[in-house]
Amino acid sequence: MSIQQEVERILRVNHAGERGAISIYTLQIAISKHLWPSCVPALKEMLTHEQSHYLIFDSALRTRGARSCYALSLWSLGGATLGAITGLLGPKAIWSCTAAVESTVYKHLQEQITFLEQHDKDALLAVQAIEADEKSHLHHALNSGGAPARENKIIWVIVSLCTSLAIWLSYRI
Ligand SMILES: [Fe+2]
Ligand SMILES: [Fe+2]
Repeated sequence: MSIQQEVERILRVNHAGERGAISIYTLQIAISKHLWPSCVPALKEMLTHEQSHYLIFDSALRTRGARSCYALSLWSLGGATLGAITGLLGPKAIWSCTAAVESTVYKHLQEQITFLEQHDKDALLAVQAIEADEKSHLHHALNSGGAPARENKIIWVIVSLCTSLAIWLSYRI
């Protein structure tokens, strides 16, 4: 695989991931408006970030004439499912979901940055543009009850596995 193909693969998986994040937050907000209104402002702010991240990768793919991930609608569906289930379970589940997703994503971002520093400054800027927001989502979630503990272990395991699986899949299709 050429370096250009690898860079496109990174942009594609991030683009798809942002789509999934948008779906997670959209469903969590829709449910929280009725059940857990105190979560809504932070979730809305995160959704706004994810929407702008999505546009960053969307335009990076377009500029390169690169396609998006074939499984984009699967990311939407998976994200909506995770968002709906954790939204119904309550604030602890919501923030555990965010913390588990973001900590998995954050590790991938660090690997991507290490690669892009050597090979593609434009793509590096795109990834770095979202890094601080993702880190702030992770910290907010950890400080709001989403930190790994015995009572949310199952959510952490399931959400981390789903996120890793989605990333693995999107690097390949
Ligand atoms: Fe994002
Ligand atoms: Fe995020």
